[in-house]
Amino acid sequence: GFYYKEGYDDPLCIDQTSVKQFIERLSSPPTPFLLYSFEQFRHNIDTYQQELKNLAPIRSRLSYSMKANYNPHLLSILKSAKVMLTTVSGGEMQLALSNGFEPSSIIYNGNGKTDESIEMAIDAGVLLNVDSLFDLEIILEYARQLNKIANVLIRVNPNLSDTNVHAYNTTASKTSKFGTNIDELEPIYNLIEENHDKWIRLYGFHCHLGSTISNTQIITECVQKLIPLFDIKRFPHLRLLNIGGGLNIDYKRYAQRTKNDNNDDIKIPTIEDYIQSIKEPLQLLPNTIELIVEPGRSLIANSCILITRVLGQKSTGSIQQLVVDASMTECIRPALYQAYHHIDTINSLSTDERIPFDVVGPVCESGDFLGKQRCLPNTLKRGDFLAIFDVGAYCSSMSSNYNMRPRPAEYTLDEHEHIKVLKKRETNEDLLRSFYVE
Ligand code: LLP
Repeated sequence: GFYYKEGYDDPLCIDQTSVKQFIERLSSPPTPFLLYSFEQFRHNIDTYQQELKNLAPIRSRLSYSMKANYNPHLLSILKSAKVMLTTVSGGEMQLALSNGFEPSSIIYNGNGKTDESIEMAIDAGVLLNVDSLFDLEIILEYARQLNKIANVLIRVNPNLSDTNVHAYNTTASKTSKFGTNIDELEPIYNLIEENHDKWIRLYGFHCHLGSTISNTQIITECVQKLIPLFDIKRFPHLRLLNIGGGLNIDYKRYAQRTKNDNNDDIKIPTIEDYIQSIKEPLQLLPNTIELIVEPGRSLIANSCILITRVLGQKSTGSIQQLVVDASMTECIRPALYQAYHHIDTINSLSTDERIPFDVVGPVCESGDFLGKQRCLPNTLKRGDFLAIFDVGAYCSSMSSNYNMRPRPAEYTLDEHEHIKVLKKRETNEDLLRSFYVE
């Protein structure tokens, strides 16, 4: 993983190497670029799987929420670890299938599914989430047309939400656009019952409370609310309880390096804390039911940093701006959710005076910032490198070409410490290709 070996000249490390040494090995470092630690990613997968094993005799599976980051190199690691995939579009589903994931270990979730994607899912035998009555009607139509049985879960909204989560990241408040309210399921049950074993089989329930959740209490309550739905007499195929993902990570663990006060923080549960918190309510789960946990962020976020170069400093009124070559097009989370990503030098904690900077990108948009009031050395100058932490989740997958910016290269170090390119940097020609139709 990424950590600081304090006291050394180049203290920021990726696994066994210093990040500075890594950068020096790239002939002309194409900043901004992403650097992954697969060691950290494997460790996160392993931690989840170990903790889930500790829930025995309850059987459980891990499913990776692919929207967090769908780099195919990550998918092959997940496949060898026998992790399932949760997909949200025809594109993600196709990528999962073409990477050799078994259809029975792919879930296709979404509140608005296209005809093509429904057809693909039923035809391949992927597990579909029924989001609403209209969704169910279309699924049934395609099952009949293909003369196949659709294997489904129902996406339930248990009406629970964590008040500490940004409004854009809650999915289980009463008026959320996802799933069907827990007390409005009867019409869906009836329609499934009419077609059961003919065109459709109900295998279980799915919910997802939101993202960046730091309050495990609501997950405990969610499990308590969902267990009574398992009416096996009515739906004999029921065997899966998918409690979604949503666990936050400690984005501020290095914050004391660049901030003076750090006491606004709430404690972030670890993967261990999270799984432990559902152990008790799961005691009521019938032993024929298997649990699915579906994280994205807590599997990949801390396995990747973004390396950027300083372009210059300027003062604007009372604010000292540090302009860097990364922006909201590579990391939109600060702009969109006021999210915190730690930003720091890759060098030692120098004795240079630190002053507060707004760290901003070059994109022509006032919302384009990466961090506000971060204490960084006042000597920073054009060409100096900075690292932006924990960009593994929802950065690459939410990146854009706004301002005609090519998407960045992605790298890792393989087991022999060789540089491996996980994604080529886009060129300006790549960006223009689709405009010229032959
Ligand atoms: N399952 C379902 C049905 C989901 O919708 C999501 C995420 C997950 C699992 C995984 O949640 P996670 O473990 O990653 O929190 N762009 C936002 C996050 C959006 C999350 C959407 N759903 C961000 O950057 O914070």
